[in-house]
Amino acid sequence: MSASGLFIAFEGGEGAGKSTQASILHDALQREGYCTTLLREPGSTNLGDYLREYLIGEQPVTSLAELLLFEASRAQLMTERIEPLLNDGAVVIADRFAGSTVAYQGYGRKIDLERIQWLNDYATGGRYPDLTILLDVDPQVGLGRVNSRQLQLPLLIADTGDRFEDEEIAFHNAVRQGFRDQEVRSATWCSVEGNHSIDDVAAAVWSRVCPLLADRVIAKLAEAEKG
Ligand code: TMP
Repeated sequence: MSASGLFIAFEGGEGAGKSTQASILHDALQREGYCTTLLREPGSTNLGDYLREYLIGEQPVTSLAELLLFEASRAQLMTERIEPLLNDGAVVIADRFAGSTVAYQGYGRKIDLERIQWLNDYATGGRYPDLTILLDVDPQVGLGRVNSRQLQLPLLIADTGDRFEDEEIAFHNAVRQGFRDQEVRSATWCSVEGNHSIDDVAAAVWSRVCPLLADRVIAKLAEAEKG
């Protein structure tokens, strides 16, 4: 558990609705007066944004290099943003975190899980989310959502997907299993079915977050302004 603040991560496969739900939760917490920051992985630092371009692009990268670049982005995010925010008592919402590396690079790319765990521990300094919400969606449904989103974009900015979206369905099924196994093994993970309407999923997410807000001291906007 964090020494202070509250650290919440969203995990899930392609098209699971993480970014939508992370943003809804962020807005809801802000309305309640909490100091809340929404971050994404890879990204949310200069280095992370730079690495993201490469990591989700189509340039060749070996599985090992891919793993190490995700961890480099995480190490930077942890030190530059997450630790200071948590130490100030804020709520930090991460759109993906270390669980994605276990699922994608471990179960998807088949890199040794113990090595990944070691790297995750090293990059995070052992500080993991207080709550990880897995949005569980059948990969066929998730990829269908991604494709229909692409079709709605103007031709000039639409692209043909990215390194991970273009993987075979077997890869995405393995990734889903990777997330589900982590959820079963960890007391700080919970699973929310991502197949329902955005509002229903948001209500389910809120019901998981509320109990954590009650039993800790988290900075509120008014208090932060006073200080
Ligand atoms: P997204 O955040 O927009 O879903 O895109 C990030 C992509 O990077 C997504 O396909 C999952 C992948 N990814 C990994 O493979 N390993 C990781 O550790 C993280 C954070 C993301």
